[in-house]
Amino acid sequence: YRDRAEYLGDTDYVAVPVSQLVSKPHAGLRRLWIREGEATPSSELPAVQPERVKGTDTTHFSILDKEGNRVAATLSINYPFGSGYVVPGTGVLLNDEMDDFSIKPGTANVYGLLGNSANAIAPGKRMLSSMSPTFIESADRLVILGTPGGSRIITMVLNGILNAIDGAGAEALVTAPRFHHQYMPDRIDTEPGVFEPQVRSALESRGHVVVEREDPFGNMQAIVWDRRTDRVTAASDPRGMGHAEVRYD
Ligand code: DON
Repeated sequence: YRDRAEYLGDTDYVAVPVSQLVSKPHAGLRRLWIREGEATPSSELPAVQPERVKGTDTTHFSILDKEGNRVAATLSINYPFGSGYVVPGTGVLLNDEMDDFSIKPGTANVYGLLGNSANAIAPGKRMLSSMSPTFIESADRLVILGTPGGSRIITMVLNGILNAIDGAGAEALVTAPRFHHQYMPDRIDTEPGVFEPQVRSALESRGHVVVEREDPFGNMQAIVWDRRTDRVTAASDPRGMGHAEVRYD
């Protein structure tokens, strides 16, 4: 019924991700919500998110073909509706990535990021980006991943890399709980319920400010190619609207 609330509607109007909803990985994720010996309060489940939160402004694709060619691509118009300007006659919405430049030292951009003259606006110059499409490659494995999420992208991808090095599979990579610190503001933002109370109070006793945010972070898309078994697994973040598919034809 929670999935019904989130995903279902008239298929003449909306794309219902049926194959994702009836897949075993999806059932596995939902099973994690069932507690042995006690009822899970519905209020503790991730809330059904309005479309806005799922982010239609930045997208990540991870792709691998049967020859081993791979793509990790993060694409963005920055904030929702970008600059709010559509080039007449084209339908192309222009971005507002100029905000990824530093306007002046000490003035944060929309993600709270600070910068210096190194990232000042100048003709022909590229603004800094947090977007980090990533390959992690060894003799045994290839992992492809990336996510939207503004300034948090770097932390999410770094944690994804660390988890991948520790051997995490695609599903574990995209479902991993998330937290973030970006120098300024000087605080740790977390997804709901990420830190156990004792972890949180240990961090606070060391002087960290921990802020639990209402919304989940990111929308990671991951592929893992195990070269020893030649098996490929893929997973799309349950926080978002993505879709993962592996075909061996
Ligand atoms: O390039 C950057 O760092 C930002 N323009 C990315 C924006 C983004 O991820 C928005 N998404 N949720």
